[in-house]
Amino acid sequence: MKVFATCQLPGDALARLAQHCELDTWESDSPVPAATLRERLQGCDGLLCLLTNRVDADLLALCPQLRMVSSMSVGVDHVDVDALTARAIPLGNTPGVLVDTTADLALALLLAAARRIPEADQFVRAGRWDPASPWHPDMFVGRDLAGATLGIVGLGAIGQAVARRAAGFGLRVIGWNRTPREVEGVESVSFEELLARSDFLSVNVALAPETRNLLDRDAIARMKPGAVLVNTARGGIVDELALADALSEGRLFAAGVDVFAREPVEPDNPLLGLPNVVLAPHIGSASQRTRARMAALAADNLIAALEGKPMPHCVNPVVYEAL
Ligand code: DGY
Repeated sequence: MKVFATCQLPGDALARLAQHCELDTWESDSPVPAATLRERLQGCDGLLCLLTNRVDADLLALCPQLRMVSSMSVGVDHVDVDALTARAIPLGNTPGVLVDTTADLALALLLAAARRIPEADQFVRAGRWDPASPWHPDMFVGRDLAGATLGIVGLGAIGQAVARRAAGFGLRVIGWNRTPREVEGVESVSFEELLARSDFLSVNVALAPETRNLLDRDAIARMKPGAVLVNTARGGIVDELALADALSEGRLFAAGVDVFAREPVEPDNPLLGLPNVVLAPHIGSASQRTRARMAALAADNLIAALEGKPMPHCVNPVVYEAL
């Protein structure tokens, strides 16, 4: 059987996969263009993709032989899962292994935004910390975590890992989940209460039709004045223009943003011009160990499917019910 992988992966994931199939791997470091993806998938039984590869109904229609897809990501909003399920194609993802790494980044962005680290870094690098601007009581004053309230949007594995870390910083943690969930150490509140009470708000919910634009202009307007928003989930959940307005008008203190509605971020994105935003290029899972584990899981999913077994991490296990 033949598999196309859209990227070279860390570790021995592709070498292991190649023992189970005829493996064709995109050779370049730049992303495979959509038209090339269509071409290279001709005659393929399997696809190993990234979150940057759109796998939609149009692509599937052009690849009648495709029988298995594995994404090296936990989020699958780049894939039309319904279209795959309609064709009984299992979709694998990589849950679990990136929980701690992503939660670490949420706290890193929260701290950096609260304490204005990038602004301070720029100040020092630019040689502006000079005798004319020595230490001063007003210099780069930020926000304290201890005693403040952190609100978590989405109490899944990553939200819970953020909550555990937050407790260590003395934050009181409140949370909201679409389907109410009791989590130790987290006071469960309504979405309204979460917005109104949170000094820090961490977005940790998956992007789905129900969560798209969840933090819209209206919701952002109802956030506690002076709050800090951190998004390590998906860009489509937060209205970026409304966030930029709230930050530039001083209604929110700062933000930490790792994910954007359009990635790579467009040069005219208004968040790029604001000093009180800490930016990152979707690096929530970017640690050496976690990326290697993600690659291994993505390969494991395909290897299982190639052997005629259920994928160990399948997003649409309903496809196995007909077997
Ligand atoms: C995922 O796997 O969905 C993450 O966004 C990648 O870091």
